[in-house]
Amino acid sequence: MSKSGRITPDLAVIEQVSQTTIRKSAALLRAGQLVAFPTETVYGLGADATNDTAVEAVYAAKRRPKSNPLIIHVADVEGAHRIAELDERAKKLAREFWPGPLTMILPRHPRSAVSTSACAGLSTIAVRIPANETALALIRETGRPIAGPSANASGKTSPTIAEHVVQSLGEVIPMVLDDGPCRIGIESTVINLSGAKAVLMRPGGITVSDLEALIGPIAMPSATTEADHASPGRAQSHYAPKLPVRLEAVDVNSDEALLAFGPDPLNGAGKMRNLSPAGNLDEAAANLYRMLIELDDSEFRQIAVMPLPETGVGQAINDRLRRAAAPRPNPRN
Ligand code: TXA
Ligand code: MG
Repeated sequence: MSKSGRITPDLAVIEQVSQTTIRKSAALLRAGQLVAFPTETVYGLGADATNDTAVEAVYAAKRRPKSNPLIIHVADVEGAHRIAELDERAKKLAREFWPGPLTMILPRHPRSAVSTSACAGLSTIAVRIPANETALALIRETGRPIAGPSANASGKTSPTIAEHVVQSLGEVIPMVLDDGPCRIGIESTVINLSGAKAVLMRPGGITVSDLEALIGPIAMPSATTEADHASPGRAQSHYAPKLPVRLEAVDVNSDEALLAFGPDPLNGAGKMRNLSPAGNLDEAAANLYRMLIELDDSEFRQIAVMPLPETGVGQAINDRLRRAAAPRPNPRN
């Protein structure tokens, strides 16, 4: 797969983070290859965002519709200014929340070097600075903005550990840069600032009230309106394990796997993982995808999920769980 021939095309190599492996990843990216990399939210599938062929390879590897644009990762605010136009609201949010789990959709800079297919041909661009030293070092070493959707097959559960990247995409990418489990565990908050009205596209690691405190009211699109087309990641079925998901479980059967929350997990499941025995929502977010994948075992009929409060990051967790439970578009999904 690689020009050097050191990487087998069979299964992605997991490399522990070091100066050497960061340099190796950057060289692969500059050569147009894909490298999965850690962020504070979930693992990303990295590609040189200025290279059309590399960007096309991202869509192909994920089997992602080309109408669903990618998030572009930069290392600093200057990098953001080179590819997007930041108004006063964007600058304020950048000062407060970058690096961090916030993606802003902004007008594309007219001289942006980012591939138009990374933005699905739109006049807007999704930008973020990840709060992860490895990711930042990788972007700097590559010297280019990095397109990075979550490193999973389209519609499936996002990976928060390197092994889960290999499970989902190991056959189609050469390498995963392993920095251990992601600290936050749930994707960035996506806010659209390309129009006069700020619109929440995806709840995430930063809550809406944190954002509103700085820039005033943010509109919430309803589940199936414009935002679904503008941000296909909002499509109803998403983040889905193979097994069906049953929400708000107040009892559980032995042929079910249980995703529990809090100090009183239900009894009787065939297998159980507890998102947070202490009832802590940050801990639950960090464990969510790993545990969903661990429970996704065909010996069970479905995954039952105990209720979680809708407060703070609970909003983002429940958003992902509802999409994981939504009817699947076709039998393969
Ligand atoms: O935390 C995260 O955001 C992770 C890490 C790797 O950074 N990335 C991630 O990327 O979740 P992805 O591709 O799985 O989700 C990106 C979301 C999608 O829902 C996409 O539709 C939306 O952002 N998006 C990207 N560019 C957009 C644009 N120009 N306009 C509207 N939505 C956009
Ligand atoms: Mg994703």
